[in-house]
Amino acid sequence: MTVLGIESSCDETAAAVLRHEGGTVTVLSEVVRSQVEEHAPYGGVVPEIAARAHADVADRVVASAMADAGLSYSDLDGVAATSGPGLIGGVMVGMMTGKAIALATSKPFIPVNHLEGHALSPRLGADCPFPYLLLLVSGGHCQFLEVQGLGQYRRLGTTIDDAAGEAFDKLAKLLGLGFPGGPAVERTAKTGDPARYKLPRPLLDRDGLDMSFAGLKTAAARIVEKGDLSDQDVADLCASYQAAIADCLSARTDRALAGFEGGADGKRLVVAGGVAANMAIRTALETVAGRHNAVLIAPPLRHCTDNAAMIALAGAEQLLAGRVADDAMNFAARPRWPLDEESAERNPVYGGGKRGAKA
Ligand code: KG4
Ligand code: ZN
Repeated sequence: MTVLGIESSCDETAAAVLRHEGGTVTVLSEVVRSQVEEHAPYGGVVPEIAARAHADVADRVVASAMADAGLSYSDLDGVAATSGPGLIGGVMVGMMTGKAIALATSKPFIPVNHLEGHALSPRLGADCPFPYLLLLVSGGHCQFLEVQGLGQYRRLGTTIDDAAGEAFDKLAKLLGLGFPGGPAVERTAKTGDPARYKLPRPLLDRDGLDMSFAGLKTAAARIVEKGDLSDQDVADLCASYQAAIADCLSARTDRALAGFEGGADGKRLVVAGGVAANMAIRTALETVAGRHNAVLIAPPLRHCTDNAAMIALAGAEQLLAGRVADDAMNFAARPRWPLDEESAERNPVYGGGKRGAKA
């Protein structure tokens, strides 16, 4: 099964060609065109700029992924594209590009849920059999998912306001550290004292696995508003803020792992999303995983952040399982598309967010 994947739900235009053969997954090519420079002056992703930038480069990004793979369109078995959730203008650009290629080449089109791509991403490189517990922490998403099998996802908890990456971006904006904020805050935190500022750890006294990060930004904003922060104060604030996020994520992960049965061969914890690049957070999660004898799997960064290989993989797995609907060509792009529709209905979480819709 050879599948072209296209991703355009936020600020990366990406295309990848993947082969799924005899249970082995090989990424034949992947191309990512980031829009960080276009959005940097605004300190966040601007949806209209994103949509136009996707439209500008989508055809070339796809063409270079095909050329790198050394394949022609007739070699493909299907075309998969992110069809939600995300910034709708960008989602439509990638989805229509995929549909057009599928139509012109008479190949099946597979609409992919971006979150399903993230959920399956550890299977791109590592031997990661179902079931596993996934902590997805990016700029747009922050949730725990139990991944039981293809198409079987149970959302165990989610942020009720900001995503963790969004919280990093907001602090960076407050302090004028640049965009994206996460890497800048992590760098600045290196020389800071994480115990210097007492920042809140919201919801940790509550049952369940939901998280909240908006209050953290407000607490930091109060400190910044007082003004006159020295370089050392800024470093201390970044370190304290990062420690608060790491504490929240690791306390919730501890609880999630306690309630997760795992498979016959033990428990696997997968961490994906851009925030998984943060070393303080990774170290904290490693400690928690160790406490539960769980294996921590963190995909390589290029597969943690938004990429098209994970979309191609989700498409290939769906094709192989015969799960692609006959009317997939009529699929309408969805700005919101929870992976676990049932728990989203039971416990809906709304909120805008600069980095796209929170599903
Ligand atoms: O997964 P991603 O590339 O895009 C989506 O949001 O879907 O994640 C980007 C987010 C941004 O909010 C960025 O600030 C955060 O991940 N991030 C980090 C780090 N690197 C990226 N957050 C904390 N520490 C990092 N080193
Ligand atoms: Zn994503």
